[in-house]
Amino acid sequence: MKKTIGVIGCGKMGEALISSLLKAGYPVICFEKDPERLDFVKKKHGIESTNSIREMESKADVLLLAVKPQDFGVVLSEVVATRKLIISIAAGIMLQDIQKKLKDARVVRVMPNVACTVGEMAAGYCCAGNVADEDKALVKNILDSAGKSYKIDEAQMDALSAISGSGPAFFAEFVRSFTEAGEKNGISKELAADLAVQTMLGTAKMLSGSGFKAEELINMVCSPNGTTMEGMKVLEKAGIERIISDVVSATMNRSREIRKGK
Ligand SMILES: NC(=O)c1ccc[n+]([C@@H]2O[C@H](COP(=O)([O-])OP(=O)(O)OC[C@H]3O[C@@H](n4cnc5c(N)ncnc54)[C@H](OP(=O)(O)O)[C@@H]3O)[C@@H](O)[C@H]2O)c1
Repeated sequence: MKKTIGVIGCGKMGEALISSLLKAGYPVICFEKDPERLDFVKKKHGIESTNSIREMESKADVLLLAVKPQDFGVVLSEVVATRKLIISIAAGIMLQDIQKKLKDARVVRVMPNVACTVGEMAAGYCCAGNVADEDKALVKNILDSAGKSYKIDEAQMDALSAISGSGPAFFAEFVRSFTEAGEKNGISKELAADLAVQTMLGTAKMLSGSGFKAEELINMVCSPNGTTMEGMKVLEKAGIERIISDVVSATMNRSREIRKGK
């Protein structure tokens, strides 16, 4: 029988993970500070809820902590079932920070992304030294059922978070900007958005399925003296590579600040 997952914090990411856990056939119980939100999530997904973390601990096999980093300390101070597997998705909070508070609990740190709702998540995870093989297999199974998972060293977690955890927002910003540019140039908003999304999807499929590297695809579309080349020159002049590098650095810096409690 599949383990029961207790999700603590049913905001954007908590709810997204609840829906992918349910699709994968895991029994889910939820707990959330905001009673209205708890009621909404519970009814929407037809799952059981609890009124406290203590009650959740008596019913769930695994605790999945999905609150914001600034609320994390409060949640940790309420957890007593330190023999359970603990999965944390909080950006910036390290395994040792959690283990210090939960007396060497078996902790796995996961960085998911919202694409778990469509089965296309890119998730990274790292495990404390005392996490059993059985726990690792469970976490991998949970994550792989919602997309792809990558086991990494904790030192790589901030960089991974910047690319895949935050990434959906950055890629969506491209779609939003192309939509606006299309609209400015006489295409309806709906059509421009559809074109941008379908192009992103096609590009992603070419890059993931058929073995193309990004550079090859760029060369394939940029014929000399052609139209795309002119657009690429603008991107290069604006310093697109440096801009993306700065985006990743800023996102990583914020993870470090969160760790310091800022
Ligand atoms: N959003 C993403 O795309 C994404 C991606 C990767 C990782 N994450 C990580 O996922 C975590 C949650 O992010 P989010 O965007 O889902 O935030 P969110 O929408 O604010 O959800 C967090 C939920 O937890 C609730 N909460 C706060 N304190 C609680 C407590 N003591 N007990 C139970 N519930 C409590 C909040 O209620 P109130 O609103 O009433 O405080 C809120 O409903 C963060 O640590 C973030 O780093 C998010």
